[in-house]
Amino acid sequence: MTGCGTTEPPPAHHDGRRILVTGGAGFIGVWLCRELERLGFDIVVVDDLRTTPLQRHVGELRCKSVLDMDLDDLDGIFAVYHLASRKNVAESHHQPLEYLENVDAAGHLLRLCAQVNMPRVVMASSCEVYGIAPALPTAETAPLAPRSPYARTKVALEMLAHAHHQVRSGGSDVTIARFFNVYGPGERPDAVVPALCLAAADADRLVIEGSGTQRRDFSYVTDVVSKLVALLDTTELPVVNIGSGESASVLELVELVRGLKPGVEVEWLQGRPHEIPEFLADTAVATRHLGDLGPAVGLREGVARTYDWWVKQVRTGVRAPELVGDPH
Ligand SMILES: NC(=O)c1ccc[n+]([C@@H]2O[C@H](COP(=O)([O-])OP(=O)(O)OC[C@H]3O[C@@H](n4cnc5c(N)ncnc54)[C@H](O)[C@@H]3O)[C@@H](O)[C@H]2O)c1
Repeated sequence: MTGCGTTEPPPAHHDGRRILVTGGAGFIGVWLCRELERLGFDIVVVDDLRTTPLQRHVGELRCKSVLDMDLDDLDGIFAVYHLASRKNVAESHHQPLEYLENVDAAGHLLRLCAQVNMPRVVMASSCEVYGIAPALPTAETAPLAPRSPYARTKVALEMLAHAHHQVRSGGSDVTIARFFNVYGPGERPDAVVPALCLAAADADRLVIEGSGTQRRDFSYVTDVVSKLVALLDTTELPVVNIGSGESASVLELVELVRGLKPGVEVEWLQGRPHEIPEFLADTAVATRHLGDLGPAVGLREGVARTYDWWVKQVRTGVRAPELVGDPH
């Protein structure tokens, strides 16, 4: 297993080859950069820190917007992970035009990559592009039916990535990674798992929005990182679901958290408009192309690790302003 744990065997050294990660100061980015560094890569992070990071970044930080990147940023780089994005589904309904920045940033970065013939590019997309999918689990071939401005920016990003691929002769340099729900320590509490864990650690009250029957496909962040790293050596893979292939409801999550903090109360709030009842990844393509990456971290274990992390944050006085969960 590639993994990010400290018990892993010493990695093969990659002679300091340089990888650039946009959004590398964010939740998934920091975990990815840590693992790439452990594997011997040199890391360059482009992130304008618009989202206050909860973890320390790894590697050289170029604190700027993706839109301000130029060819110099790609000097000596052999692979780019594009993770930088506005990503709040609910917010995107209120600020749809601001979210178009996601599209502009992706287009700008892809143009720069085309100019230098970047060998490898991985673009972060989302299961939100499927909307209410006609079939569960959902395969990569399912129709794209986005239901939020955020999801539409990811569809646009995907179209740009396909166009970029087409103008290059031979070689599948761009892979679109459709993340389902990624969770773990270091994620801001505007997503459902950290919101529940922080609430249990700090406030003794868990908030459920809507019925709690909405289901999501949760992946612990180190499992996602293992897949992202495996993508470095994968070609001929235009798009891949990055999910666990299992879904759990918010109610099930709440029960897991209540098992960790017995007696914590539950408060019910009105459900969100445009709520999608379930996301569930078909993982056959990922399994076929990325191989056996070892056993995944189960939801019970992953939630316990995330809860423990939040308990430590609260003990050391760290508080995050948002307590409301976003199941997206
Ligand atoms: N976390 C999930 O469950 C999930 C699910 C589906 C898709 N995704 C996608 O994965 C990627 C990473 O998600 P995350 O959870 O780590 O998000 P995050 O918000 O923790 O990190 C994103 C980072 O990008 C930076 N950023 C945003 N726009 C930028 C820009 N234009 N220029 C420079 N920096 C910018 C932010 O400051 C932040 O540090 C995003 O593209 C997101 O849409 C995440």
